[in-house]
Amino acid sequence: MCGIVGIVGSKPVAGRLVDALKRLEYRGYDSAGVATVYDGVMDRRRAEGKLFNLEKRLDSEPLDGTVGIAHTRWATHGVPNETNAHPHFVEGVAVVHNGIIENFSEIRDHLTAEGSVFESQTDTEVIAHLMAKYLGEGLQPQAALLKMLNRVTGAFALAVMLKDHPNTIMAARSGPPLAIGHGKGEMFLGSDAIALSPFTSEITYLVDGDCAIISRDGATILDFSGNVVKRPRQISQATAYVVDKGNHRHFMEKEIYEQPEVISHALSHYVNFADNTVGANAAGIDFKSVSSLAISACGTAYLAGLVGKYWFERYARLPVEIDVASEFRYREMPLQPTQAALFISQSGETADTLASLRYCKENGLKIGAVVNVRESTIARESDAVFPIMAGPEIGVASTKAFTCQLAVLASLALGAAKARGTLTAKDEKELVKHLAEMPRIMSRVLNLIQPQMESLSRELSKCRDVLYLGRGTSFPLAMEGALKLKEISYIHAEGYAAGELKHGPIALIDENMPVIVIAPYDRFFDKTVSNMQEVAARGGRIIFITDEAGAGASKLPTMATITLPNVDEIIAPMIFSLPIQLLAYHTAVFMGTDVDQPRNLAKSVTVE
Ligand code: AGP
Repeated sequence: MCGIVGIVGSKPVAGRLVDALKRLEYRGYDSAGVATVYDGVMDRRRAEGKLFNLEKRLDSEPLDGTVGIAHTRWATHGVPNETNAHPHFVEGVAVVHNGIIENFSEIRDHLTAEGSVFESQTDTEVIAHLMAKYLGEGLQPQAALLKMLNRVTGAFALAVMLKDHPNTIMAARSGPPLAIGHGKGEMFLGSDAIALSPFTSEITYLVDGDCAIISRDGATILDFSGNVVKRPRQISQATAYVVDKGNHRHFMEKEIYEQPEVISHALSHYVNFADNTVGANAAGIDFKSVSSLAISACGTAYLAGLVGKYWFERYARLPVEIDVASEFRYREMPLQPTQAALFISQSGETADTLASLRYCKENGLKIGAVVNVRESTIARESDAVFPIMAGPEIGVASTKAFTCQLAVLASLALGAAKARGTLTAKDEKELVKHLAEMPRIMSRVLNLIQPQMESLSRELSKCRDVLYLGRGTSFPLAMEGALKLKEISYIHAEGYAAGELKHGPIALIDENMPVIVIAPYDRFFDKTVSNMQEVAARGGRIIFITDEAGAGASKLPTMATITLPNVDEIIAPMIFSLPIQLLAYHTAVFMGTDVDQPRNLAKSVTVE
C-alpha cells in the first residue's frame, strides 16, 4: 500500500522525508517521490522502483527547503512509472495520496472539458486539479480543501502542499490511516506511527472524515464541514523500531526465528504461567452470554481465524460463522445483537476487514479485534482489543503474526470455554501447560529442521504446481502453506482438505506435482494416510510433515519426511507452521524473488 510522509520543519527536509519513507517500505510500493517548497519555488523528484533510485536522483539533483511531502506508491490506477509517481503537481499545488478516488473518471472528464490537461493516468491527479481550480476561483486554501473533499468520493488519505503557502501542509483522511506527529517547532505527518518514530512519539491519529491544517506551531483538525474537532494526543507504542534484519538475509527469515520470543510475549498477556490458567485479558468479550461468534479477516489472518473456529467450537461449544472479509458483509448474513464478532488483522488497517467490522457494529454485535497494531483503526473501533504482541512485522508474507494470532485465538477459545463452563479446571491446566511449552518447542523445531528445509526447497523451486493437504486444524494450515509459497516464490500452490482429494484434485496427481501432507499423529491421521496412499498409487511425490508418532506409523514411501516432536493438538498448528514457513522462504530464496516485498503485494491492503 502507498505511504505518505510530510514535514513542516526547521531544517532541510528532503533527506528526512526519504528516511521516513524507508520505514514505510514494508507496505509495498513500486515508485516514490518527494516535493519541497521554499522561497516561492515548489519542486519535486520522483523515481520508479525502489527508494534507492529516488535517493540517486536527489544526490544528483538535490532539493532545498524545510517543508515537504513524500510518497511511496503502490499502483492502483496507471502503470508504476515516474509520470504516475506522486507528488502530483498542478499550478502550484502538490498532492500525495493513498487509496482510491472512486469518482475520479467523472471528475477528470468534467475538468478536461473545462480545459484541464492531465499528465498522468492516476486517479490522484484529479485532487490536484480540483485544488488548483478552487484556488483559481479565489477560495482560500482551507475552503478549497473542504470543497475538494466534498467533491471526491472513495477511500483516501492525502496531503496537499501549496507553493503560495509554504508554511503549511494540509491533510485529510477517509479510509487509509493518517497520523500527525508533534515536534518542537516542527510538525509531521505520516501513514503510521512507525514512519514518524524517528521524529516524535507524540501522535494524533486522524479519524475518517478529519482534515488538518498543519503548521510549525501545531495542527488544526476539522471535519469535512469545516467544524473544528478535537483528537487526543497519545504516546505511540511504535518506538523507534530499529528496522533492520539483524544477521538475517531477509526480514521474513528474522521474523520466522523471532516466533519463540514473540509467542511468549503474546501468551504471557493471556495466560498465567505460574498456575497454568487462562488470564483476565482473555475475557474481553462476555463469551458466556454470547449466542454465537462471527469471525472475519483476510489472507493469512483469515486462515488463523479458520483454525480458531475449530477451537471455539471444540472447546467452548460456541458456534462460529467465518468468512473472508471481502465476502462477509455482502452476504447480508442475519446478525443478532446477542452475537459477538472477532476481526483478525496484523495491520489493523485492512479495508475489507474494517468494513466488515463496521457492518457488524451497525447490527449491534460486540466487537473484538485481534491485532498487532494497538493504535490501528480496527483496534480503535472495537469494543475489546486483543493485541498479539508480535512487534512490527516488516516482511509482507505474514509469519510471526500468524502464529501469534493462533496463540491468542487459542487463549481466547480456552477463556470462552472457561466462561461457558465447558472446560474443567484440570483440562484448563493441561491445555495452558501445552501452550506455555510452545516457545521452547518452537526453538527446538527451528534448529532441528533448518538444514532439511533448505535442501527440500531446492527441489520445490523446480516445480510449477504444489498441492498441500491437511485435515482438522491442519486444513487451514494446508491453505496457509500454499499461500506462503505462492505469494513469495510465485509457484502456483493450492491447499485442500485432505478428504476433498477424491472430489477433484486427485486428477492433478502426477510425478511433476509434489503433494505436501500436513498430518500430526492425531485422530485424523489414519484417514490422511489413506489419502497419501491414493497419491502414491498414482505416482505422486509426497512431502510428509508429521511427528515422531506419525513417522513411525506410516511406512509409505515419500519424497521427504519432516519429523516434528509429538505435541498436543492445541499447539500443533503453531508448531507445524514452522516447516511450511521455512519451505516457502527457502524456495523463494532459490527462486531469487524479492522475499520481503513480493511483486504486486502490499503489507497492508487499505483499499477494497
Ligand atoms: C499474508 O502472508 C499476506 N501478506 C496477506 O494475506 C495478509 O495476511 C492479509 O492481507 C491480511 O492483512 P492484515 O492481517 O494486516 O489484515
